[in-house]
Parts: sequence; C-alpha cells; structure tokens
Amino acid sequence: MNIIWHESEVSKENRRRLKQHKSAIIWFTGLSGAGKSTISSALENELFNIGIHTYRLDGDNIRHGLNKDLGFKPDDRRENIRRIGEVAKLLVDAGLITLTAFISPYREDRHQVRELVEPDEMIEVYVKASLETCEERDPKGLYQKARLGEIKDFTGIDAPYEEPLDPEIILDTNKLSIKESVTIIVEYLRNNRYI
Ligand code: ADX
Repeated sequence: MNIIWHESEVSKENRRRLKQHKSAIIWFTGLSGAGKSTISSALENELFNIGIHTYRLDGDNIRHGLNKDLGFKPDDRRENIRRIGEVAKLLVDAGLITLTAFISPYREDRHQVRELVEPDEMIEVYVKASLETCEERDPKGLYQKARLGEIKDFTGIDAPYEEPLDPEIILDTNKLSIKESVTIIVEYLRNNRYI
C-alpha cells in the first residue's frame, strides 16, 4: 500500500488541553430495549450541560447512513461494529467523549474495538436488563415480530447476546432509573479523572 500515515500537527493531547477534559469511548452494549439509547442520550445531555464535548453514535441512525449496506448476520454485525470502532477512534482523537449505543452482541467484536484504542480510552457499559423485561417494553414492537418469525436473527430470540465478562460499568436497568444510571457514569468519569 503506497499510503503514508500523516501525523497531524495538532495532536490529541493539544485538543484535550483545549477542551480541558480527556477523550474516550463510552461503549454501551446490551439487548434491544435494555436502555442503551435512552441512557446514552440522557448522559450526553448531562455532559453537555457541564461543558463536556461529546458525540453520540446510535444503532438506528448509523444503520440509515454509514452502515446502511449491513444486515444482522454475524459477519454484518462484525463489520458494523468494526466501522463504528474506527469512527469512534477518530472522534477520540478529535478530543471528544464519544458515546456509542449498539447491541454489539459479540464479545470478540467488542474486544477488537478495545484493541483499537489506548487501554483507558474504552469504557464498556453493560446495560443489563432481562430478556423478559426488554420483551415487555418492546418499544419498537420488534420482539413481537421476531416471535412471529417476521424478523429473523433477532438478538435474544434467535441470535445470541454474549454478556461482557469484565465491563467497567454494569447498569441493571430492571432496578435503576435513567437518572441513577447517568449519575453512576458521571461519577465514574469524575473519579477516574476523565472530566
Ligand atoms: S448490532 O448487533 O449490529 O450491534 P445495532 O445496534 O447496530 O445492532 O442495531 C440494532 C437495532 O436494529 C435494534 O435496536 C433494532 O431496532 C434493529 N433491528 C432490526 N433487526 C434486528 C435484528 N435482527 N436483531 C437486532 N436488532 C435488530
């Protein structure tokens, strides 16, 4: 490949200094309906209000644009997560606290994202809710369709979800309110000097 990587003269460190906080990926993972989008968007609001520079990538939106060529077979999900990982890495380089909300059901795919960035630049948040709870919430009516066989390869029904073994944060949304979940993450960011 005759392509040479150009080191930018403005470094990640320069950008962080300007923004006065660190940058990292906050990687939400969990079943559809567990609360990834809701919590990440509430968290983004909270961070914005205290002057933190953020950007959020969300499953349903990215699949309308960047990844609209991808479906839900394992290889497509892997490619989905790989591309999102690369974009998130660029956003971390840009100095942003980057929030991602994707089911990302495969442990190996999440691990690959972790490998792309520095060890302290990936904060994995397992948004944990039982399948029963998610199915009861069914905000988009997709579980019902999956049960009827109208959607194939649906996570939790006829496609697997591999729980994180060692996430930085676990949020049990059967028990926690959205506000409580947001507070747990903001505390984590403060305690670990990200913000
Ligand atoms: S991932 O598995 O590749 O990480 P992603 O988060 O991008 O999934 O997209 C999940 C969203 O797509 C779900 O919230 C749901 O709205 C929709 N969706 C459509 N078909 C499926 C399916 N077969 N499995 C899971 N989600 C699906």
